[in-house]
Amino acid sequence: MTDKEQKRVKVAIAGATGYTGAELVKLIVGHPNAELVAVTSRSYGGEPLDNIFPSLRNIVSIKCEEMQPENLFGRIDCIFLALPHKVSMEYAPIFLKQDIKVIDLSADFRFKNLLAYEETYQKHSAPELLQKSVYGLSEIYKNEITGNSKKEGASLIGNPGCYPTSFLLPTIPLIREGALNRQGIVSDSKSGVSGAGRSLALTSHYCEVTESFKPYKVGSHRHVPEMEEVLNQHAGLSSNSSNSEDKINITFVPHLLPMSRGMLTTIYAQLSENIKDNAYETILNIFKRYYSDNFFIRLLPKGKFPDTAHVRGTNFCDIGFWIDDKSKRIVIVSAIDNILKGASGQAVQNMNLMFGMDETTGLKLIPGSI
Ligand SMILES: NC(=O)c1ccc[n+]([C@@H]2O[C@H](COP(=O)([O-])OP(=O)(O)OC[C@H]3O[C@@H](n4cnc5c(N)ncnc54)[C@H](OP(=O)(O)O)[C@@H]3O)[C@@H](O)[C@H]2O)c1
Repeated sequence: MTDKEQKRVKVAIAGATGYTGAELVKLIVGHPNAELVAVTSRSYGGEPLDNIFPSLRNIVSIKCEEMQPENLFGRIDCIFLALPHKVSMEYAPIFLKQDIKVIDLSADFRFKNLLAYEETYQKHSAPELLQKSVYGLSEIYKNEITGNSKKEGASLIGNPGCYPTSFLLPTIPLIREGALNRQGIVSDSKSGVSGAGRSLALTSHYCEVTESFKPYKVGSHRHVPEMEEVLNQHAGLSSNSSNSEDKINITFVPHLLPMSRGMLTTIYAQLSENIKDNAYETILNIFKRYYSDNFFIRLLPKGKFPDTAHVRGTNFCDIGFWIDDKSKRIVIVSAIDNILKGASGQAVQNMNLMFGMDETTGLKLIPGSI
């Protein structure tokens, strides 16, 4: 279907005054087949969005509406919930009942295992939707999102977290193909400060962050159960088989980088015994099989490694790797823009897939840095 033949998708963005919401506004306004119909805000009802984000002057003239779902019925085909967890789960069922597709950027619909969600976050008010939602890691779940698999296409997307996106895109193919030892996988991740959202917090004050580099939430970050649930599913282990010796438990150490956006993840793992000679080519071939046809995954040439500047302002995930032949360890590095491929860019990619468009529509962004 050409851009002209495609019906314009009518879109609302809830939480448009936050970082991921504002990024969604920019993407939808620049999208050839989508129309921004409404933006909602709890704190800025009635206020023009360009008062809140002056960078949008002369580009976006829309005013924020109070979040009243009934006021959106009949006006939109799709809503992005760029809201904190717990808030999204209250709204998603209301829109789904009206046949409005929902793309939720919070953690509320990322889990299949209710217990894992509730242990990590809080009691779920719409647990029946967990089995209906599709995990929005676009390249991996494309068939489920579009409906090309036996099932109907997705009407509810649990858009992945930024750390999980940067970790799972490189590891899922290798786990599926039995190329990694399931034990001892380490993810050493670094995020720009926008990963914490726009609301004020001491830990993200300029003076606390600049000229500084530190780990945080070591051993207790909320993204660990999400990454483990998804990776275990791809290893063929159900999320309930917690006693299995094969179960993957990852060691995850997140760090805060003194920059506004960007994420670099370094993964250390032992190659499995299946990988013998030509380890580099074997791994490269696995990555190529999964990702050669995927515009947003860029496999870097041998000896080259990702740089956050090369993906900044884009929906790309760059991946490079090195194998230590002596120890048979693999070191994989991935880089994404946490607000784009890690959140809003991937959310729009999912919208494109849900509405039968080319996944790159409106997303061929060029990195802003040199
Ligand atoms: N930042 C990232 O890199 C990133 C990456 C992946 C996923 N996410 C997820 O995406 C979601 C949004 O993140 P963000 O970084 O954009 O957060 P944010 O900058 O803090 O924005 C969240 C927005 O939600 C609205 N909001 C807050 N509490 C609300 C409530 N109780 N009821 C209704 N609206 C409320 C606020 O707008 P008003 O007060 O104007 O309503 C706020 O601007 C979160 O669930 C986050 O975990 C973020």
